[in-house]
Amino acid sequence: MAYNFDRVPNRRIPGALNKWTFYPKDVLPLWVADMDFPAPKPILDELRKAVNQGVLGYELASTPLLETVATRMDRLYGWKVKPEWIVPVTGIVSGFNVAARAFGSPKKGYLVQPPVYNEFHEVKNNVGIPQVDAPFVKQVKANILHYEIDWDLFKKQAKKVSMFLICSPHNPLGIVFSRRDLSRMAEICIENNVLIVADEIHSELLLDEKKFTPMAKLSREIANNTITLMAPSKTFNVPGLHCGFAIIPNKELHDEYVKVVGHLRLHVASLGLHAAQAAFSGQCDEWLKELQYYLTGNRNFLVDYVTKNMPDVRITIPQATYLAWLDFTQLNLEKSPFEFFFEKAKVALSDGAIFGEKGHVRLNFGTSRSILKQALDRMQKSLHSR
Ligand SMILES: Cc1ncc(COP(=O)(O)O)c(C=O)c1O
Repeated sequence: MAYNFDRVPNRRIPGALNKWTFYPKDVLPLWVADMDFPAPKPILDELRKAVNQGVLGYELASTPLLETVATRMDRLYGWKVKPEWIVPVTGIVSGFNVAARAFGSPKKGYLVQPPVYNEFHEVKNNVGIPQVDAPFVKQVKANILHYEIDWDLFKKQAKKVSMFLICSPHNPLGIVFSRRDLSRMAEICIENNVLIVADEIHSELLLDEKKFTPMAKLSREIANNTITLMAPSKTFNVPGLHCGFAIIPNKELHDEYVKVVGHLRLHVASLGLHAAQAAFSGQCDEWLKELQYYLTGNRNFLVDYVTKNMPDVRITIPQATYLAWLDFTQLNLEKSPFEFFFEKAKVALSDGAIFGEKGHVRLNFGTSRSILKQALDRMQKSLHSR
């Protein structure tokens, strides 16, 4: 192992408001989705080079950068992307809100699969189009949670919308959808004239050596009906640099999308572009491999810990992301689990209610095993002393 993910820097930086300083000092933060690991060296070197040069002027995405993104799609997935399909965006949340502005209609809604990333629930407020839900069906085996697509409901709800916003891999459930499920969802969308917007920000954070398929890779017809949103931000832990890419093979959709990006002047910061170049160049892939291994270890540790030490608590076995989903509905806690653990264990998690399922929390295990263990010990103790 060349990288030591057991050692994480102190993020309680005076004057900075971040995951570690947002809450009081005695709280362990396992909430917002960034990791506690420094970004890989090639990215930091690239940023240092830009800072040392000294001029942080305006920059646009260069052709070599767009070629780097395209090459990565081909190398990872055999997806032949043309650089001219790629539109840089100031993040994936901006990316899907732009799509909703460009293509949403107040008469027809947008489809989502709760419990799902909280920003998916905000699109209705941001853009003024109705949200239509096709929740997963929850299954429980011993204390392990599985979530499956309810196909009848998905088909029914698809008729009410003009856009499907898919989170693939799924936050907070950690699902890596099979090609079969992706094809089936895409088929239903095409049948109903529903545009697919695929948030694939977590696509490289794979556990257990899982394989990921971009929705748009499935067929030319699906690619023509899909806006894919990719970014190096989660994978290489540079989300604060706000840089992502919309990949849009359909020229009409592409041009309309670019217009809205232009109207809103969504220019990516120059350091975000530099970081993306280094991140997608391949120079950070060894780091990523070791990160995936470490995160898989954290996931195993977490599931094992909950299974052994927290009776009646249920948990997912995420196949991707550094996010786990825990169900406390069997415990009859006097408060929401978010409030309970915040007050009694001094652990900050993400409240399941913001994703669309009360009685649950999302736990961010993108940290050192020792911090993860401390947080779990605190949680276990607070449950025992109820
Ligand atoms: C599914 C998903 N999409 C988008 C984002 C945020 O993307 P960005 O910071 O690029 O807007 C997150 C962050 O947690 C996420 O989980």
